[in-house]
Parts: sequence; C-alpha cells; structure tokens
Amino acid sequence: MNDKEIYKQYLKKIKLIQKYNKLYYNNNKTDISDSQFDILKREVLNLENKYKFLKDKNSPSETVGFKPSKIFKKIKHKVPMLSLGNAFNEEDLINFEKKINNFLSYKKADEIEYSAEPKIDGISASLIYKNGNFIRGLSRGDGKEGEDITENLKTIKDIPKEIKIKNFPAEIDIRGEVFIQNNDFEKIKGKFANPRNAASGSLRQKDPNITKKMPIKFIAYTYGYSKNMKINTQSDFLKNLKLWGFKINRFNKIIKGVKNLIINHKALEEKRKEIEFDIDGIVYKVNSFDLQNRLGFAANAPRWAIAHKFSANNSISEVLHIEIQVGRTGALTPVAKIKPVNIGGVMVSNATLHNEDEINRKDIRVGDTVTVERAGDVIPHVISVDLKKRKKNSIKFNFPKECPSCGSKTIKDFNEVTKKQDAVRRCISEGYECEKIAIEKIKHFVSKEAFNIDGFGKKIVENFWKLNLLRLPQDIFKLNYNKITKLEGWGNLSVSNLKYSIESKKIISLERFIYALGIRHIGQENAKLLARHLKSADSFFKLSINSDMNDLANIDGIGETQIKSIKNFFLNKTNLKVISELKKILKIANVAQINKNGLFKNKTFMFTGKLNGISRAEAKSLIEQNSGKIISNVNKKLDYLIVGEKPTTKKVNNAKQLNINIINQKEWMKMLNKTS
Ligand code: IVH
Repeated sequence: MNDKEIYKQYLKKIKLIQKYNKLYYNNNKTDISDSQFDILKREVLNLENKYKFLKDKNSPSETVGFKPSKIFKKIKHKVPMLSLGNAFNEEDLINFEKKINNFLSYKKADEIEYSAEPKIDGISASLIYKNGNFIRGLSRGDGKEGEDITENLKTIKDIPKEIKIKNFPAEIDIRGEVFIQNNDFEKIKGKFANPRNAASGSLRQKDPNITKKMPIKFIAYTYGYSKNMKINTQSDFLKNLKLWGFKINRFNKIIKGVKNLIINHKALEEKRKEIEFDIDGIVYKVNSFDLQNRLGFAANAPRWAIAHKFSANNSISEVLHIEIQVGRTGALTPVAKIKPVNIGGVMVSNATLHNEDEINRKDIRVGDTVTVERAGDVIPHVISVDLKKRKKNSIKFNFPKECPSCGSKTIKDFNEVTKKQDAVRRCISEGYECEKIAIEKIKHFVSKEAFNIDGFGKKIVENFWKLNLLRLPQDIFKLNYNKITKLEGWGNLSVSNLKYSIESKKIISLERFIYALGIRHIGQENAKLLARHLKSADSFFKLSINSDMNDLANIDGIGETQIKSIKNFFLNKTNLKVISELKKILKIANVAQINKNGLFKNKTFMFTGKLNGISRAEAKSLIEQNSGKIISNVNKKLDYLIVGEKPTTKKVNNAKQLNINIINQKEWMKMLNKTS
C-alpha cells in the first residue's frame, strides 16, 4: 500500500467512528458492539503510531467522545469566574495564610476560619436565577465570557428550576460543578477518556435530548453576582444552598489552623478511593465574607482561597536521554526523556530536571534509574536517582555552556535580592534572534492569557514556523491562508475558523497587549499595573522613545528589576520593529478607569511609617477602590502624605517643604468615613 492508500484507509476508519458516535448519541442506537468499536479506534491509533504523517482532527487521538458543538451564544458573566491558586504542601499553606495575615494586618493569634470543600474534578457552571426562577446557565468559558448552555443544564435533575424559599436572593448566580460519578462513568466508559471529559462533552451538545441521556450531576459551592443576599459566611451560604434545594458536598467542613487543614487533607486523601466521585484536592476559602471582600483578588485568583491538591503519584523509569530545552526567557531547562511509564493513569515520557544546579546536585545521568513524580497538572519531575542501579560505565552529564538553539553564550544572572547566582543558565540572545526563544515567544503571544487566539495552539505555532509562515508576532496577522488551505489536515472550514479567530483578536486590551510582548519580569499582574498607570497604548509606545522611565517607579509593585527589563526590551531593534508593526495592525483599547468618580478622584497619596490594624496592601487597595492613586516619591504631584508610626523623617521634612498635606492614619480614615 502506498502512502495515499494508507491515508484513505485511515480516513475511512475515522468516518466509521464518527458515524457510530453520531448514531449512538443522536439516535441512541448502536450498530456495533463496544469491543468492535474499541478495535476500530485502536486500529486508527495503531496506524497513527506506525505512519507519523497520519493526522486528522477527527481522529480518536484528538477527540475523545463526541465532538462538542460550537454553536452556543457567548454571554458575559456579571462577575468573572476565576480560578484558584494551588498548594501542594504544608509550606504552601503556611505561605497562603501568612499572606492573608499580612494583608489583613493580623497577628498570628487571630486564627482564620476556613470552609474546607473537597474539590470535584468536573466542569464549572454558573446558574442565573431571577425572582426564584432559573433563567439562564453559562459555562465558565474564558472566565469572563461563558457559553449559553441553559437548555442542557435544565436537563440536570440536581438543578432546581424554581425556588420559592423566602430568603432566596431576588437575583443570584449560583455556581458549582457539573460532574459524572465513577459508577455512572463505568457505563459510558468506551466513549470517553475520563469522567471530566464526559461531563464536558455532554454539556456542550447541540441537542439537549442527548445531554438528558447522560448521568450528569451538579454540586453547588459559590455564587457570582447577587442582589440582596444577607449571608455573612461561606459555611452559612452552603447551609442555605441546601435549604434552597441544591446538592452540596457532604465532606465540607469548617477548619481553623494549617495543622488541622493538613489532618483533614490526609484523612480525605485516604478516603478518596471510596468516594463515588473524583476529587483532586480540597478548596479552602476564608469563611467570613467580610474578610473575603477585604482580601479581594490578585490577577486571576482570589487572595482568600486556594486549592490544596492531593499528593503526587510516583513511578520508576530509566533516563534514555537528556534534552536541553530553551524557554521564552532564554532559560535552559534540562528534560529527561524517560522510558514511558504509566503514572496515575497518564503515560509519562518526559520529566523535567529543572535547571543546571538541580541536575548537578542530584547528579542525574543518562542511563540512571529514577523515581518520577506527577502532581496534578504540574509537569512530571525526577525526584531521585537509585544509585545502586547505576551502570559502572555511566558518565556525569555535561551541561552545555552554549545555547543549543542559536549557539550564543549562556550566563547565570546575579540575583540582587538573594545576592547569589541564579540556578538557571540562560541564552544571552535578546529574543527573536534565537530560534527556540522566538518560537516560545510566539506561543506566549497567542496563549490564553495573552491574545487568546482560539485554535492557535503550540503545535500550530511550531508547524507554521517550520513552514516559514511565522517569524515574528505580526506575521500572525498576515498569514498566507492560501498556503495553509493546501496543507495536510487543513480544510476551507478550519482555515476560515482560524482567520476568524485571528481577526477577532485585533482589538485588544492594553493589559493583554503588554503581557503578550513577553517582557521579562512583566507577568499578568505587572502588565495590569503598567496598563492602569499608562492608560493608553500611546503612552506605552512613548516609553520606547523617551528613555526616562522614572515615572514608572511611582507604580507600587514595579521596581528596579522591572524597569531595567522594560528598558532592555525597548533597546532591542527587533522588539521596536515588532511593536511598530503591531501598532499598525491592532486596535489597542485604552484603560477604562474603574469608579472614576470616587472619593479620592485626582488625589495622590503616599504612606510612611507603620499603620495600625491595617496592612499597606489593604490601605493601598482602599485608596484605589476610591479612585485615588498611590505614588512612592515625595514630589509636587503628591497631595497627601499619610504618616504612621516611626515615619521616615526625610519624607516628612520634604513634604513640609513642598507644602503637602500631612495627615495621620485617623485623619485619613475619617476621609474614608471609617473609624480606626
Ligand atoms: S470556588 C474564585 N469551590 O475548582 C472561586 N471551586 O481552580 C473559584 N472547584 O473553576 C471557585 N470545587 O471548577 C470553588 N468547592 C469549590 C470547588 C471549586 C471544585 C473547581 C471549579 C473552579 C476550580 C478552581
């Protein structure tokens, strides 16, 4: 058989799979036994393994179960659906609590109460109720905008359609998890990789009659928008959810203290196998809503909650080869290519060795027998070497001193904070000059948190790079679609979908734009701070001409490291070319000011000395919530210097000289209409 015939056979088998899937899900009919269906799928996978050129987006290796529809209307969530930060051990929890205590200016003695809720591994959904009626249901989507899946959600028995209980808020978005229990999954297993996949596929069906046939459940745990809700704690909210007719997790608990969180975590982890649904950790939420409001949110996740993941699974394997990968910031990461092993249901063939120091410290060598750990969604890593099994002729791994991608020199930065050399070795190339860095930069540019271009995944970036279709970010907007249509695996429809996704991202927020550029040390949080300060793309672009960036030092959170990095970014000619090209193509939205007309409109503040009962971070967020601005230098632009205990004399004297209002904490609190 020649390649063309093989391809034909392959596509024929995929068509058959699609036909049986459609029959099963649309007409609830089967013309084939489960085992025959499995054989058919395996044949396709075997062909793909044997002939690497075979690829099709409808292959069972790409789509598990049936294909979700793309027809749903997108609707904005009134309150975004955020994700949670992760904790893996006691240390992470101690840090989490420490940050809360610092923010709230609490002493250790003030113990924080948490609602501890087992984290079900399903799909989150937001149910909108008005006057007691379930009027609309949305998927999480990108967190800001979800899909209208009302009709599908209506088929779930656990979701009350009408609630006639007195204290049920007039308007509320009830949020929770849609999932499939393990015993129910057993019955439909042939079609899906795991229960989560099955729940997701079921929810996104065009025809709610198909969803209705799936054994999906719903557990409620939080809310988004609400009007007139008179509940003060998460645990009370959970109790009310039950009264209102929702199902809640029977393992929810109220817990104080990190030690007790750990005890509960251990107990639940042991019980995990017996529980009828998959849980992948425990979510801890500060119980008091008042404290939650004070703590607020960082970039993507609340400061008042964290997901404590269950411990990793380990397996033993052999290092076949050590590859040096070059990341977006030039970091050289050693990755062990290992003999594939199954760890907790997932086949693992790569394990990170982190950096040069780590590989030296553990003395990991090619041929070694190693223990590999996989925790949650984190990349698997090598935790130890079995020295007894080391071969006599093994040789120490020699970490390269030149970039394996572009051959440039590599260096280890000196860290000004720790006064030590970094553990990571980096390629000194400034960016697009090094092939591997350039590819990673483009992947970052199109990624979810940056331009979020639908369907433009990492594999596509690599493919387009190979085909010379992409070299710099602006090329994304000038793709040769004629060439792409002719590529294997691409058809008119997929090309027009891609074109549409790209076109729709030409309007972008300043914050996402800055983040997408991938300036070192400018992550999402810093990009947000910069965007809020600069307000328009023009003032951002001006930074490239005007090398004076002292003004940026006024942004609380932006320090010397960040400013130095921004300067470096603008010194690079390719970067300048990239932004000038992007400027022509994109429409970068100015930053809309939140609560423009707050109490402190047009007023600037600065703190010196320790405040009483409130942390700097909270004080700063109070000022910003009231439309005020924080600056970090005493200068003519400063309106108020707020003086706490043991202030810096120089700052107070400077303020006096410049005739700036000097007030104490009480006076400031009065301005805020608060008493200390
Ligand atoms: S609270 C801002 N509570 O975990 C609050 N989430 O990584 C975010 N999840 O998308 C949600 N059980 O799908 C919350 N008891 C629980 C949860 C829970 C599962 C999921 C949810 C969310 C993800 C966060």
